[in-house]
Amino acid sequence: MAFHHLSPILILLLGIQLVESRLTHETLTTTFATSSKNYGDEGTNWAVLVAGSRGYGNYRHQSDICHAYQILKKGGLKDENIVVFMYDDIAQSEENPRKGTIINNPKGADVYKGVPKDYTGESLTTNNLLAAILGNKTAIKGGSGKVVNSGPNDRIFIYYSDHGSPGVLTMPNDDDLYAKDFINTLKKKHLMGTYKSMVIYIEACEAGSIFEGLLQKEWNIYATTASNPDESSWATYCPGFDPSPPSEFDTCLGDLYSVAWLEDSDMHNAQSETVEQQYEVVKKRTSDGGEHGSHVMEYGNTDFSKEHLSSYIGSSTLVSSSHKGHNKGGKGKGKGKGNKHNPISSTPVEQHEADILYLKRKVLREPEGSIKRTEAQKELDAAMSHREHVDRTFEDIGKTLFGEEKGYEMIKTVRSAGQSIVDDWDCFKTLVETYKTHCGVLSTYGKKHMRAFANMCNDGVQQAQLAKVASQVCGRQV
Ligand SMILES: *[C@@H]1O[C@H](CO)[C@@H](O)[C@H](O)[C@H]1NC(C)=O
Repeated sequence: MAFHHLSPILILLLGIQLVESRLTHETLTTTFATSSKNYGDEGTNWAVLVAGSRGYGNYRHQSDICHAYQILKKGGLKDENIVVFMYDDIAQSEENPRKGTIINNPKGADVYKGVPKDYTGESLTTNNLLAAILGNKTAIKGGSGKVVNSGPNDRIFIYYSDHGSPGVLTMPNDDDLYAKDFINTLKKKHLMGTYKSMVIYIEACEAGSIFEGLLQKEWNIYATTASNPDESSWATYCPGFDPSPPSEFDTCLGDLYSVAWLEDSDMHNAQSETVEQQYEVVKKRTSDGGEHGSHVMEYGNTDFSKEHLSSYIGSSTLVSSSHKGHNKGGKGKGKGKGNKHNPISSTPVEQHEADILYLKRKVLREPEGSIKRTEAQKELDAAMSHREHVDRTFEDIGKTLFGEEKGYEMIKTVRSAGQSIVDDWDCFKTLVETYKTHCGVLSTYGKKHMRAFANMCNDGVQQAQLAKVASQVCGRQV
C-alpha cells in the first residue's frame, strides 16, 4: 500500500488535501465533468526522466527531458513525484547563446525553468537511477534522494533520451546501463508489487535492443522505443537543416522520436488520446516518410495501450478547454495561434552525425585564421580519425577472431526478431571490460560496435581469447 507507513490521521489529512487540490483544479478549468477521472482513487502518477548525455553538443537530450517535465507538470504531476536525472551542464554552458534557458523547438519557449535538479553531475549514476526506480532510498548516493515511492495502485512513466548502443543505454558518468540490469530492475519492481502499470519511452540508437526478447508481458509494462534493435535514432531541429534552430544555435535542439511525442502531447488532449494513438502518431513522424528516420517499436504488454495518455503524463485541462474553444471557433486558425509547437516536418540527422555536425558548426563559427578556429578544427579532425580508428579496430578484432572471410560478418550479425542480442550478459560485460583494458575507453561512437561483443559471446569466445586478440590489435600489453 502506498500509505501503509502513515498514521490514520495523516491519511485523513492527505485525503482532505487531495480533495482540495481537486477542487482547485476544477475551479480553474471551470468544467466540473472532465477532471475527476484522472485525479481520484486511482493512485499516484510517478515519472522518471533521464537524459543520459552531457556536453553542449548533446544539448538535445537534456532539452527533450526538460520539455517532458513541463508536460508532466502542466498535466498535474507533482514535483515530489517526478524524479529528474539530468547532467545540467547545458543551460549555463558558455556555448549557450540564451544563457539560463533551454529550448526544444526553433520557436519554442524556455523548457528549463522549474525542472527539479534531483540527480545532476556526478550523482547521475546508473546505481541511483535503478535505486530510484525501485524506491530504495538507502541505496541512493548523493542527489536529492527523491525516489519512486510508489504503491500498488500507482502508475509510472519512465522516459530516457540519449545515445544508446546494442544492449546498452549510455550514462554520462561512464557507468552505462546494460539492458539486462534495467530489465532485472523492472522485474524486481514488478515482484515488489509497487505499481499498477508502467509506460516507458526510450529515445536512443538501437533502443529496441533494450527490450527485444527481454520485456515480459506479465509485468504490465508497455514500452516504445525510437529505433529497432539495429538502427540509429535521429536528431532534429539541427543547424543547417530545415527547419533550423535560431541562427545562434550550433547544436540540434531535439530528437525526432522525442519531439514527436512531446509535441503531440502539447497539442492533444491526453484525456482523450490513448497511449496507442500516440504510438501511431510518433511512429509516423519518426519514420520520416521512410527516407530518413527510424522504426518506432513497441514492447511488453500492449493490452493497456488503449488507456488514455493522461493516466501516465497527466492532463492539462487548461489546454483541453482551450482546445475545445478552438474546435468551436474554427480549427485551423485556433490551432496555429494557441500552439507554439505545431509539428513541422524537419529533416532529421542521425545521432552520431549530429555530433559531427555540431563540431563542424563550431569550426565555421570562429573567424578564419583564428586560434579558436584551429582548435575547433583539431577537435573535429580528432573526432573523425577516432571514428575511423575505432571502425578499423573492430574489423581487425573480428578478422583475427573469426578469420578474414567471416570476421566482418561475425561482428555485424543481427539476431532474428524476438531474441535478445546476447544470452550471457555477464560474458557481454566481461568482454566490454576486456576490450577497454586493452584498447581504451569506448567513446559514444565506439559503443555502436557493442553488438560485436554480444556476437562473440553468442559464439563462445572466451575472455582470454579476446584479451589476446585485443592486445595484439590495439598494441597494448597489460
Ligand atoms: C536497498 O539497497 C540496499 C543497499 O544497496 C540493499 O542492501 C537493500 O537490499 C535494498 N533493498 C531493497 C528492498 O531492494
